[in-house]
Amino acid sequence: MTIKVSAISNSEANLKVFADSTAVVGDTEYYPHIGTTEMLDNVLITDKPDVLVLDASVGADLNILQQIESALAKFPQIHTILISPDQSVEYLTLAMHIGVRKVLSSPLNALSFQEALRLAQSRMAAAALASAAFKGGLVIALVGAKGGSGATFIATNLAYALARQNKRVAVLDLRFSFGDAAIYLGNTGAKTNVAELAQQYLRVDEAMLEASMAKVSERVHILVAPATPDLAAEVTPAAIEKIIEVARHHYDFVVLDVSNTLDAVALKAINLSNLLYMVLQLDIPNVRAAKSMGQYLRACGCAPDKMQIVVNSYQRGANFGLDDVEKSTLARVARTIPSSPAAVSDSINQGIPLVELTPRDPVARALKEWAENLAPLDGNGHKNGRTNGNGNGNGNGNGNGNSQNGGPIGILRRFMGFGQ
Ligand SMILES: Nc1ncnc2c1ncn2[C@@H]1O[C@H](COP(=O)(O)OP(=O)(O)OP(=O)(O)O)[C@@H](O)[C@H]1O
Ligand SMILES: [Mg+2]
Repeated sequence: MTIKVSAISNSEANLKVFADSTAVVGDTEYYPHIGTTEMLDNVLITDKPDVLVLDASVGADLNILQQIESALAKFPQIHTILISPDQSVEYLTLAMHIGVRKVLSSPLNALSFQEALRLAQSRMAAAALASAAFKGGLVIALVGAKGGSGATFIATNLAYALARQNKRVAVLDLRFSFGDAAIYLGNTGAKTNVAELAQQYLRVDEAMLEASMAKVSERVHILVAPATPDLAAEVTPAAIEKIIEVARHHYDFVVLDVSNTLDAVALKAINLSNLLYMVLQLDIPNVRAAKSMGQYLRACGCAPDKMQIVVNSYQRGANFGLDDVEKSTLARVARTIPSSPAAVSDSINQGIPLVELTPRDPVARALKEWAENLAPLDGNGHKNGRTNGNGNGNGNGNGNGNSQNGGPIGILRRFMGFGQ
């Protein structure tokens, strides 16, 4: 696969190193530009590169990161390699956070550059293969930063709201210690559960999965948790992988209520998800737990851009703000859900999803808006194709709620203490 590489540098010598390196690596078209990041937008629009090489050797400052962030917000798929003399942890973290894939040190080492190019090539080839092969639904994992943060309420009600967008939705209750998701949807008639299905996972196909699901409505089906935790002993990562894979081929959305114990099964489920929302409430224990959870998940190989935050029971004027949450967890606040204790508890106690029971309630509205974002209807009220689930704010209805939250530029500004 041939990749287009555009490079911007004000050093003729470095442009020559890039040229020689692309020739050594092969399968590349190379477009050199002498100049600075000022020309970034033009280069991206004209060249439409797969890989962007930015040489910030001279005058590397935070302003360059801001320009890159603003450009990458419009072209998030571009694989960006930055050359910079600044190798401080703060600079590298910021660069990665705004979507730069690799930061190479300056003065430039040609071999490291070639290695970075080869890595870009192999990642792009793998992504192309994956997107060609992937036809299934979007897997959304919700995990509470702490117990009682509202993960199950949100998972079940978001699932129901997605179904109102004409989507077929599976809810998998992966909280094996007395998981209660079915109750939130008013369904207590399940005949089988995830543990029983896992015991025979090698035989699981779409028909068997659907037969094992309790039917909340025509479009919302739920695979319930076992009655007691001991029964879940045979739910292995391999079994859960098979069940999720079959579910994603059979449903438009698969919503996972994941246990915050983060055991091997939970990690497998998170790993298979396209979007991961950590649900928290705005208090110190929740934010601390989300911070530790984020660190742990990143250490376990979870892609940082998949991880997002949902602030539940959000009230303006709380002791600390959404920017504090982002600073501390290094994840974006994708959504805020207001607090509505009476309406939420009525919904749970009656087993009637809130969008059905009290559609005008602010929590119901927030969930509906989120579902509309994830699954927009076309002008005739029909379902559209699956939206891009990468959650990185490229404006295609992926529900990450940057409109709520100032977008990635806002995050960088706040990171640096610039204010909005
Ligand atoms: N937006 C909200 N406004 C008011 N109350 C809420 C809201 N979201 C959830 N709650 C309340 O919080 C309680 C806990 O919710 P939920 O069971 O969904 O949390 P959880 O994170 O799944 O907890 P667990 O750790 O036990 O699985 C519920 O009783 C519900 O009434
Ligand atoms: Mg729960």
